[in-house]
Amino acid sequence: MDFENRMVDPAYNPEDAAVENPLRPRHLSDYIGQEKVKENLAVFIEAARQRKESLDHVLLYGPPGLGKTTLAGIIANELGVSLRVTSGPAIEKPGDLAALLTNLNPGDVLFIDEVHRLSRSVEEILYPAMEDFALDIITGKGQMAASYHLPLPKFTLVGATTRAGQLTAPLRDRFGVVLRLEMYSPEELSQIVTRSAKILGIDIAADGALEIARRSRGTPRIANRLLKRVRDFAQVISNGIIDQNSAGIALDRLEIDELGLDSGDRRMMRAMIDYYNGGPVGLDTLAAAIGEEAVTIEDVIEPYLMQIGFLSRTPRGRCVTPAAYHHLGLKPPGEVSNGQQSLFHEG
Ligand code: ADE
Repeated sequence: MDFENRMVDPAYNPEDAAVENPLRPRHLSDYIGQEKVKENLAVFIEAARQRKESLDHVLLYGPPGLGKTTLAGIIANELGVSLRVTSGPAIEKPGDLAALLTNLNPGDVLFIDEVHRLSRSVEEILYPAMEDFALDIITGKGQMAASYHLPLPKFTLVGATTRAGQLTAPLRDRFGVVLRLEMYSPEELSQIVTRSAKILGIDIAADGALEIARRSRGTPRIANRLLKRVRDFAQVISNGIIDQNSAGIALDRLEIDELGLDSGDRRMMRAMIDYYNGGPVGLDTLAAAIGEEAVTIEDVIEPYLMQIGFLSRTPRGRCVTPAAYHHLGLKPPGEVSNGQQSLFHEG
């Protein structure tokens, strides 16, 4: 399948760990981009430090691969506390969360990735933990029922999700700080690639870094992954130096086009054009047509296509834009050959 193991999948892949970990910045000052998020976080961290209190709970939301886990690590490091990392689906039972919480030290950061995927029963334990720093546990039934109120150390929950709208209202309301991560500009990604290359000892020219950056769909995780693969090509087919030329050849060979689209993106747009006249087409219909899960389309494929103006969402479904037709070498419906919109058709 086109969508399995995509080079440009921003979702976390265990293969990224080896390259991602040494590349993760440890300080806010080393973190490139997300200027608004950094400015605000710096104030909140400093204020908590001055008051010798734990930082308010933080919700990070935005598309995958933009550095939410990295930011959680930076928050813990800047506060001088430990970081515990887990994820919504990994916490199966209330007892799993209770075990995590009771093992925290005062001020520690607990990072829960995919926090929207916590089960209801786990979420209910989390509310008093976040609000009152206490565990309220009920054991037994009927006459044997007993409730325990267990104080917890004050901690900071950093939750991450791809969309804040996926959270239940009571959970969302318990985060004092809510920060949205944006896709990165090619210039910012280029700085990230240059920094990563330096850490990994890779020889890269400025135009090579920019070429990788331009094809990384706004996502550092993809940029770092492409850097590794482009290095292989540069080593084997040219002199080992990544410049615009060797990067371009490598990325073409990987079938990642000038805008960072891969065969999967092109296949989805082609399906919309060939079977649905460019849309509107409903999400579930589209998912069935290309054999992909609706959430993957929504969280992984669509955000970038919308960002670059190739896809629009209407109340009646998704539509491919004229720009996408042009990118695929096709003529949009209703466009006459001189490139102008016809008077008789909607564009
Ligand atoms: N690696 C991944 N994301 C990064 C960022 N925003 N700044 C620096 N290095 C990174």
